[in-house]
Amino acid sequence: MKHILSSDQFTREDLEEIIELTDKVRNNQKEYSHKLDDKIIAVMFYEPSTRTRLSFETAALKLGAKIITTENANVASSATKGETIEDTVKIISGYADAMVIRHRSDTSAVQAASVNKMPILNAGAGKGEHPSQSLLDIYTIKKKKGKIDGIKVAIVGDLKYGRTIHSLLRLLSLYDNIEVYGLSIDAFALPQEYIDMLKEKGIEYKTCNRFEELPRDIDVIYQTRIQTERFEGNFENAEFIIDQKVLDTFSKDTIILHPLPRVTEISPEIDDDPRACYFEQAHNGLFVRMVLLLKVFDRI
Ligand code: CP
Repeated sequence: MKHILSSDQFTREDLEEIIELTDKVRNNQKEYSHKLDDKIIAVMFYEPSTRTRLSFETAALKLGAKIITTENANVASSATKGETIEDTVKIISGYADAMVIRHRSDTSAVQAASVNKMPILNAGAGKGEHPSQSLLDIYTIKKKKGKIDGIKVAIVGDLKYGRTIHSLLRLLSLYDNIEVYGLSIDAFALPQEYIDMLKEKGIEYKTCNRFEELPRDIDVIYQTRIQTERFEGNFENAEFIIDQKVLDTFSKDTIILHPLPRVTEISPEIDDDPRACYFEQAHNGLFVRMVLLLKVFDRI
């Protein structure tokens, strides 16, 4: 049974195939519009979402699948009565053919998959992983920069709790001659396990405290929101805000990505700058998720 649980499950060849298939599906949508006519997808979100839930649902609908969905499963499902993830999957597998799950627990998707009743797609698990996001990030970088080998990437903001960063680093580590710069305050620094993982793959990780310390010709600045829902207390001075003044100190070829939602860490004044690619990045997610749904059913 195929699941999408972690960025760790992908090889570089898998990523190249997913990028190619995403273009193919995107450019030939009619051809794929009945591929999942016989499938029902359950969409269980125990945490809020705009992009991931609605793009997975749209992807399923575009492929002909039907969806059953709980937008606030944390309060509207029997989880409130103490039902476990495993029992929930056992029940839903009697109704649906695959399940997309977002949950506050880092182990949620693995727990759901352990039941082995239907394909599970991890749509965000605690502070751990968000593999479909990292796949759309890699797709976007490839489309915008034309390559991934040899790029310089800055990860900015909440490197501690940002699951999109954790999943993206796993995928970047599959490429050659990557340089990674981490820009955060100490309280939101990248956990040591990810620094060790990069080191094992021969990637040097450089920490920074100011935008000025990043190379001016950096290829990608991956900005993130401080994940206030994952800790108690204040986060003063944790944001490194990108506005036009900051952006204009970088190369005309530097691109700005963000998994979104943004709050104040990217000023809307840069939205029309050609280097601001975050809305395009989010839109790419629809087509990447179409490919992932086709893949778990072996229909592509
Ligand atoms: N990028 C992302 O996961 O966005 P949502 O929380 O809106 O799904």
